[in-house]
Amino acid sequence: MLYRRIIRPLLFSLPPEGIHHASLWALSHTPASALIAPFARREFPSLEKKVFGLTFPNPIGLAAGFDKNAEGVAAWPRLGFGFMELGTITPRPQSGNPTPRVFRLPAEQGLINRLGFPNVGMEVVAQRLEKIKAAGRWPRTPVGLNLGKNKDTPLTEAGRDYVACFRRTRDLADYFVVNVSSPNTPGLRDLQQGQLLDSILGPMREEDPDAQRPLLIKIAPDLNEEQLEAVVLAVEKYRLAGIVATNTTIDKRGLSVQEEGGASGRPLTSRSTEIIRSVHRLTGGKVPIIGVGGIFNAADAREKFEAGASLLQIYTGFVYEGPLVARRICEGLSR
Ligand SMILES: Cc1cc2nc3c(=O)[nH]c(=O)nc-3n(C[C@H](O)[C@H](O)[C@H](O)COP(=O)(O)O)c2cc1C
Repeated sequence: MLYRRIIRPLLFSLPPEGIHHASLWALSHTPASALIAPFARREFPSLEKKVFGLTFPNPIGLAAGFDKNAEGVAAWPRLGFGFMELGTITPRPQSGNPTPRVFRLPAEQGLINRLGFPNVGMEVVAQRLEKIKAAGRWPRTPVGLNLGKNKDTPLTEAGRDYVACFRRTRDLADYFVVNVSSPNTPGLRDLQQGQLLDSILGPMREEDPDAQRPLLIKIAPDLNEEQLEAVVLAVEKYRLAGIVATNTTIDKRGLSVQEEGGASGRPLTSRSTEIIRSVHRLTGGKVPIIGVGGIFNAADAREKFEAGASLLQIYTGFVYEGPLVARRICEGLSR
């Protein structure tokens, strides 16, 4: 109520990316998250889950892209998230696309972004995570790390980028995600298919032949049935631990804002649920799915679970519903 009535209108009167950085800074460098924690953090013993060998205190996670550079690791559990996915990181730092590159669609409860993986690079992120580990401040909630390729790395050499990120960080996260589904790095989504996909997953599996680290793949909501089947075959072939479904969509038909980039939030809700349902069917329910796309409340969350998801993540719902969103969803689910 307070967030939707007063704080959100204030935040929404300022440019989206500026507000994102300011909020992230406040959550990471001030007592803000500790002050919010008494309202946002609850224990939900009935929602605890074991998935791909990790224990999740609740199934609602922070989606990739919100904390690309691992700045707010301590903050996310305080806001009630049961896990976090940091990144996308790339081997070398890069600045992403020219601004403006994030757009709000308030009428549709959506966002369009074309950030293009701006990030400080794997080395800086690795050092941040090392520091947290060394200080004994590793969170009790699982930490995922989402891996990408630099914009200027040719697609045929993309495998090298993913392997480089994994090599540097393999002891610094609890699970890893091969991101081949962002619409904002030219050609990236072509890596979801055929030989290009093999050229990434093959070398990644060689790095960890005994599959000691859970390795997942994040897919686009714009894949057709045949493409989904190919992804599922690759997941089995390379013994991946799970599938993150989905990234943002390039299908912006009917939206009030027409900008280049990927759409998220409410316009994505049903499409991403359909993809989860298809993946669940194609895998016979044997491969855990992290469901993401347009989750705002417990009803949305329940639909994703019913479609076959084991865990969920939120990005746009967090922007629209505010810092108590994870607690509210967990409360609804545990009822
Ligand atoms: C501004 C913005 C930046 C994002 N950055 C990333 C990213 O770096 N890596 C990634 O895998 N997904 C990224 N995503 C996609 C989200 O993780 C999520 O898959 C998608 O937004 C759908 O969930 P939502 O409807 O809850 O936002 C980003 C989304 C937004 C809105």
